[in-house]
Amino acid sequence: MSDDQTVAGDDRPPRHTVEVTVYEFVGGAAFFAALVERFYAGVMADPVLAPMYPTDDLEGARNRLCAFLVQFWGGPDTYSQQRGHPRLRMRHAPFAIGLDERERWMGHMRASVQAADTNAEVKAMLLGYFENSATAMRNQADR
Ligand code: HEM
Repeated sequence: MSDDQTVAGDDRPPRHTVEVTVYEFVGGAAFFAALVERFYAGVMADPVLAPMYPTDDLEGARNRLCAFLVQFWGGPDTYSQQRGHPRLRMRHAPFAIGLDERERWMGHMRASVQAADTNAEVKAMLLGYFENSATAMRNQADR
């Protein structure tokens, strides 16, 4: 029996698959820049989250999150070159992140992912990752 998935009587070519990173699949950095742009628009309109962010350096905040996501999903490692090891839990320690903050953050990110120009499988991968990491970022018990 052949292992190239050809079937007697089927003259279609054998099927081959190619693995690409999420970064390549979605078309590169522009996808993440748009994701972060939509996300921060939601965050800045959020009365609980907005005061936590540096209003005088929103572009910097957008760039940091974007570069981190690009790197995480398989793109260039510019984030680590500029910021060092991510150590995200440590970097979030100065901010009080309880359930409410986590749910708000995730709500804005979920909306941004849903609005993104990609397929359902990639959206599910992104959302699964964000759900887990947002939970991991909590540093305050329920109030
Ligand atoms: C759970 C709720 C979260 C809250 C309230 C929160 C809040 C913040 C705040 C206030 C900053 C500082 C903004 C700046 O100056 O860059 C920040 C930075 C950042 N956050 Fe979050 N965050 C949350 C979850 C997450 C998650 C889940 C991720 C990753 C998937 C993430 C990734 C980042 C990154 C990469 C930075 C920049 C770190 C750096 O300084 O290099 N955050 N976050």
